[in-house]
Formats: sequence, structure tokens, C-alpha cells
Amino acid sequence: MSELKNKKVLLVITGGIAAYKSLELIRILKKKECSVKTILSKNANKFVTPLSVTSLSQEKVYSDLFDPNSEAEMDHISLSRWADIILIAPATANTLSKISNASADDLASTVLLAADKEFFIAPAMNVRMWENKSNKNNVNILKNMGHEFIGPVIGDMACGEYGEGKMTEPQEIVKYLEIKHKELKKNNGLKAIVTAGPTKEFIDPVRYITNRSSGKQGYEIANSLKKSGFNTTLISGPTQLDPIKGINTINISSAKEMFDSVIENLPADVAIFSAAVADFKVKDVSKNKIKNKENYSLSLEKNIDILKHVSNHNSLRPKLVLGFSAETNNIIENSQKKIAEKNCDWLIANDVSNQEIGFDSDFNEVSILYKSGEIEKISKDKKSVIANKIVRKIISNLD
Ligand code: CTP
Repeated sequence: MSELKNKKVLLVITGGIAAYKSLELIRILKKKECSVKTILSKNANKFVTPLSVTSLSQEKVYSDLFDPNSEAEMDHISLSRWADIILIAPATANTLSKISNASADDLASTVLLAADKEFFIAPAMNVRMWENKSNKNNVNILKNMGHEFIGPVIGDMACGEYGEGKMTEPQEIVKYLEIKHKELKKNNGLKAIVTAGPTKEFIDPVRYITNRSSGKQGYEIANSLKKSGFNTTLISGPTQLDPIKGINTINISSAKEMFDSVIENLPADVAIFSAAVADFKVKDVSKNKIKNKENYSLSLEKNIDILKHVSNHNSLRPKLVLGFSAETNNIIENSQKKIAEKNCDWLIANDVSNQEIGFDSDFNEVSILYKSGEIEKISKDKKSVIANKIVRKIISNLD
């Protein structure tokens, strides 16, 4: 039986060339025994006809914000309340801009602004539009609001160009929704802890020791866990990243604070230690600003190893413990030593000497080292994609 059986889907079709694929989307959703109500944005009418949508969905099509018949029932509120799933496919750049900036100039954008739940968004646009900085900002705003993106994918575009921006194929969108619903049911009640970002170790009130970690990979993992139904706590060092709706984010500064927060938030079913924790802290932090002088030396002492402590804890150790390994050379060899030393189940090794991946980049390339000695490589991809792949593996391991 499909996970989507009897689900109520509110499909919002917006005005892009990929809108014709939404007809196929409706057909597949109906086959899965979903109820489908459809809103056409102001411009979607130019790409698909209300008649074809009605015929396939066997429901009235909604499109007019000022339709007296519809508004008697307050459609701009009631449609989202009715839905179990709100899906925008295709979502144009203009739609992403409107919904991330609270603009409401037609029924589709008004319903989305008044919605009481997060949406699934399947974008479709030209590659340059997708990569445009303003569009990227809008995507980030929507992700941080808890909305979930399905695609876009890379391929040939209607305009003749090639790149990322194509709408995910309808059967893939439906498959994604099915997997998501299965996972949400399965992982409901499971708890995950993620550490991310750098730590700051103060020298005096104005100076500190830190590192280049951006926290991006850890935030993506936390987001992917949350979207898969985990009750997720993110313990974050100082980063430039915005908190994500639905994730319990705890901001800390030093390694000691990170340790205390991790202990406070255990037990958990899975813990992922992606933070770049400072190995040392300053022995005697000066209360006053240290004055400029000829010679000065810092006395350091070791910080507690949070991962090692938790991995070896008799009662607090989660079922699955993942560490990260930031290396610049002999990556696998050094990481093999680290997994044994730290006693974690998996260690995710990455090369932080490469500017295109690792620290601060949106891309990464990792090798997963398992306790059994096996090594699995995940080739270069966006940190969000790498996060989803790691989380899929976590979910199947917890089976
Ligand atoms: N880690 C930790 N607490 C520390 C140091 C590291 O929890 N005080 C965790 C990191 O979050 C990561 C793993 O240990 O999951 C490995 O961190 P990494 O910085 O790669 O290695 P180190 O143990 O610090 O060793 P080295 O710096 O020599 O590579």
C-alpha cells in the first residue's frame, strides 16, 4: 500500500514551462489514491488549462483571489488547512521570491502566505536564474523556514541551456513524498544530536583562538535528520548560519560549553559530531586585555574530547555515534587511527586543504570509514546532498 493513500494534497502550479508536467503529477497522485486540489497561479493558466487540471484531479480548480463563490468559503485560508501535503510544482523563481518575501498578489501566493504547514517545493527555472544570488537568498530563507526542496535537477532545459534548474520528474517527486512519509512515521520519537561549527577559546576579553569551520555540513545534517522525522538538537559553535525552524538549536562558544550542552541533551538515539572543536584552550584566560609587549607566550591545555567521552560512556552512549575527521594529508590513514582512538561507529573523513570542498564551501566530498574497516566514498556534491546520503544510511542502520 502506498504511504500516500488517502492523503490530501494541495498542488500549487505556477507559471513555468514545466507546468505541463504537473498534469502527470496529478495523474500519479490520483493513482496513489490521494485527493488532489489544485491552485493555478496567475501565470500558470498560460501553460495548463483549468479544464485539463479538473479532468485529471476530478476537483474544482482554484485560481481567482477575488472569486466571490470561492471566497465565501474563505479558500485563501481553508485550502491549506484541508491539506496534509502542500506541494508547489513547478515553483518558478518569481514564486520563490514572493513566498520568501511575504508577497501575496494572487490566490496561490495568498494561500501559501496564510498556510499553517511547511511546503514541498519543486523548483523549475533556467540555470542562471537558479544560481542567481537573490534567488539563492530566497531559497535559503525558505529552507530556514522549514520548507523542503525537491530538486531541481541538472539537465537540458527548455531554453536550450544545460545545468541545474530542471524540475524533478513527477514520478521522482511522488517517490520522494512516499519515502518521506514512511521515514516520518518510522523515525517519529527518535532523537538526534548534532554538533557543528567551530569553538572559540578566549585568550583575553578581546582575543580568542578559533578555526575556519563554517558549520554548513553539520547544519545540513541536522536539517536532513529533522526532515526525516528525528527530534533534532543542534549544538552549534559561532557560525554565520541562521537557525532552522523545527530544530532545537543551542548556541555555545567554547569546547567546554559544547561538552556541557551535549551531556545535558543526552540520551539520544544517534549523535553526529561534526564540530571542529578546538583541541586546546588557554590555561589562564586573562581578565583584562593583554598589553602589547616584546614577547608573549600562551600556555595551553587540552580540551576534553567530546566525541571520545560520549563514545566510551557506559550509559549515555547513543546507539549510533558518528565523528568527523578534518584532514589535510594522509586522510584515510589518519582517519583510520582516529576511528580506533575515538571508538565511534562511523567516521566521516574530509579533505579540508581543498578550497573547492570542505571549510566554507557549499560542496564536500567525503569517505565514510566504518568500524568494520569498510570505507565508502561519497563523491563531490552539495553539502545538502551529502547530508541526505549520510542520513539515509543512518536511517537504514537504525532499522
Ligand atoms: N572532537 C571532539 N572534541 C574534541 C576534539 C574533536 O568531539 N575536543 C571530535 C570532532 O567533532 C570530530 C572528531 O572528534 O568529530 C575528530 O576531530 P578532528 O579535529 O578531525 O580530530 P582531532 O581529534 O582534533 O585530531 P587532529 O586535530 O589531530 O586531527
